[in-house]
Amino acid sequence: MTVSSSTTTPERGAATDGLSAADPAAGAPAAVDPHASHYAKSAGAGRRIADDEQLHEGRHAAPTTDRLSLPALTLGPITVDVPVVLAPMAGITNTAFRRLCREYGGGLYVNEMVTARALVERKPESMRIIKHDPDEVPRSVQLYSVDPVTTGAAVRMLVEEDRADHIDLNFGCPVPKVTRRGGGSALPWKSELFASIVKAAVTEAGRKDIPVTVKMRRGIDEDHLTFLDAGRTARDLGVAAVALHGRTTRQFYSGTAVWEDIARLREALPDIPVLGNGDIWSAEDAIAMVEQTGVDGVVIGRGCQGRPWLFGDLQAAFEGRHDRFRPTLGMVADTLYRHAELLVDTFEGDELKALRDIRKHVAWYFKGYPVGSEIRTALSTVPDLATMAEILSRVDRDQPYPGLDAEGPRGRSGAPKRPHLPDGWLDSRELNAEQKAMIAAAELDVSGG
Ligand SMILES: Cc1cc2nc3c(=O)[nH]c(=O)nc-3n(C[C@H](O)[C@H](O)[C@H](O)COP(=O)(O)O)c2cc1C
Repeated sequence: MTVSSSTTTPERGAATDGLSAADPAAGAPAAVDPHASHYAKSAGAGRRIADDEQLHEGRHAAPTTDRLSLPALTLGPITVDVPVVLAPMAGITNTAFRRLCREYGGGLYVNEMVTARALVERKPESMRIIKHDPDEVPRSVQLYSVDPVTTGAAVRMLVEEDRADHIDLNFGCPVPKVTRRGGGSALPWKSELFASIVKAAVTEAGRKDIPVTVKMRRGIDEDHLTFLDAGRTARDLGVAAVALHGRTTRQFYSGTAVWEDIARLREALPDIPVLGNGDIWSAEDAIAMVEQTGVDGVVIGRGCQGRPWLFGDLQAAFEGRHDRFRPTLGMVADTLYRHAELLVDTFEGDELKALRDIRKHVAWYFKGYPVGSEIRTALSTVPDLATMAEILSRVDRDQPYPGLDAEGPRGRSGAPKRPHLPDGWLDSRELNAEQKAMIAAAELDVSGG
């Protein structure tokens, strides 16, 4: 299976051709529409972005040193032409957002994490999370689990029911309610448990040649780093790639990711792809990460919040081009509106749910643009698409890309946090009886991070 770049894949062309301008009959003003047709061109087969005058209005040229040709990423039978991965983000990387990102560039787009146990129990929300658009290839699912038996059952279900082409395992979540129960980024410390979960997933997925990857942090804190031995264990058990977020649980989202450790992992695992994650806010950052760490691909989380076009920039950069999206405020407003429309589909027509969800994205989209508090406030309570279209028609569409003000960090940040761990967790790398009993209940009620 080959996942091609957006400029060459027929599916992507078809997908983007399917972009509908907001339906005037539904009350959306024409001013909010043109984005769709504007970007629809971006998927045309063989198009040279930099040569296209009309598209060029939203971009500017980067220095020639800011580009680098990186080979395709191979994950078992899957070839990802553009070695870029959308990081799984709970509450963000749903079908709607993945579609929006896919329309800009090639890559692997991972869904929000789903809890193995809830999946096996077929909870409606879990079944929604693992849904993919018919044209989404490969279908990538991230599982969170603390128990090998449940992991195996969830992977078996995904594989037997043909619901995924790639499975990622979440060992990176630093959220206290997860780590307190020994899950997420706390788990690789318990080396046998970690190995048994990975083994269960690889064994079940292997029945249909579905690649399994693991995503992890550096460790729990500087005195309890696990990434090297967890990476080697996962490699030995047959994972297709390892992704490392260069922070510990304690670092949470603070400071900067330690790219040096990503380089160390790359060096320690010469035989499988290693993916680097943490603090990539632009295509130039992605190139810097590749240059400084030697990784085979990059994983982008917060950097694309409110900037799905970053995937277009990344594709350009890794294809050795220097054109970049530099959207006017009008184009940003259109993308925000389209995101809301797609969320309505994702939430099966529940417009209020979709519009509640889009509210958290508003500040990210408008970062750096001169949008007054009246419009921002109105969007924070927007109840339906028609109202959203009316509010967005009031922005000054001709405002140009604001440059640095629109770039850089966004989303979660803050100070380091003392890791919340089960009692005695750090005393040994093996589970004691009490911990074994405790983690059995740990899969319930978690969401990603
Ligand atoms: C809102 C949010 C939700 C997240 N949810 C998940 C998740 O479900 N699974 C996961 O492995 N990581 C999750 N993460 C972590 C990201 O995948 C990524 O590792 C992290 O944000 C660092 O990358 P970045 O610097 O590019 O943002 C989440 C991060 C954020 C900000």
